[in-house]
Amino acid sequence: MRSLLLVFISLYVVVGSEGIYSLHGLLNTETSSRSNLILFTLSVPGLQVEGPSGPLQVQLGDSVLLPCSVRTPVPLEELEVEWRRSDSETLVLLFQDGEERGEEPEFRNRAHFFTEEISRGNFSLFLTDVTPADAGTYRCSVHTEKESGDTTALISVVRLVVSGGARAVSAGLGEDVILSCSVDSSEQIEEVVWKTDQDIIVLQYKDGEVLPDSSHERYRGRAEFFPAEIHKGNFSLRLKEVRTEDKGDFMCEVHTSLLSASTTVLLEDLGLSLLHVLILLLCIIAALLALSLSSFMCLKMRG
Ligand SMILES: *[C@@H]1O[C@H](CO)[C@@H](O)[C@H](O)[C@H]1NC(C)=O
Ligand SMILES: *[C@@H]1O[C@H](CO)[C@@H](O)[C@H](O)[C@H]1NC(C)=O
Repeated sequence: MRSLLLVFISLYVVVGSEGIYSLHGLLNTETSSRSNLILFTLSVPGLQVEGPSGPLQVQLGDSVLLPCSVRTPVPLEELEVEWRRSDSETLVLLFQDGEERGEEPEFRNRAHFFTEEISRGNFSLFLTDVTPADAGTYRCSVHTEKESGDTTALISVVRLVVSGGARAVSAGLGEDVILSCSVDSSEQIEEVVWKTDQDIIVLQYKDGEVLPDSSHERYRGRAEFFPAEIHKGNFSLRLKEVRTEDKGDFMCEVHTSLLSASTTVLLEDLGLSLLHVLILLLCIIAALLALSLSSFMCLKMRG
């Protein structure tokens, strides 16, 4: 009998203090709508709101879905959902009086609910064109007439941009050529591999080391990085003594623990090198000279 009483008392303390906490949080954050003040003071934490299972990694410029949902749908007329940044308390998006509203300029046209999902208890936020400034924690607060609850989502913005130089490069047979590949990454670069379009490994870099033995025999000893450039993210490849069979696409494939990206360079026009052209020119000139000399001689002999 006594323990039952104790349970009742502690239950009262828990609910009571949380109710006060909710009111306190409300006074801190809620400035935009007065009409919902009454709604909030009456709602008590206890609503089970589901969020993401871990941090959300987004590539710069991509879109991200921030999950927020309740199991049992809530009638729209008694529903209020608020997405805010937890750090700055900036209002990202609000669902109130049956409609989506209230976006700060920095989120205008970039943050949306899935309108048709709201009635199913799904208040996930879709944020597009993610910028570095979007990194941070977001809170989804759900209020009904009687209950409230929230969940948070952490966005971290990651970046992996792999760029080449010219789309195509040309070289003479026997010459050396540089195939460009520059990496801009927010994460540690785990692997860079240059491959041909037939998936043959030209040269590989892995966990901070160049692995010359990984090269296919066709490229062994003929392909190298510029060691002094690697720490700048410059994984350009020098291919030596270009051969006819080298013609084709070369792909620079970059992997971090989270992302992969690549760039492709076409090695084309494996023409004659300058030296070859010079020699050829000399031959033609010599041939022309010989021809004119011999015709001159013929004329002389006839005459
Ligand atoms: C909410 O809606 C989005 C968009 O349709 C969907 O991707 C997501 O899985 C939904 N979440 C839940 C919990 O149903
Ligand atoms: C990468 O290094 C090579 C060799 O030094 C150089 O020619 C090239 O311009 C560099 N690329 C970039 C983007 O800095």
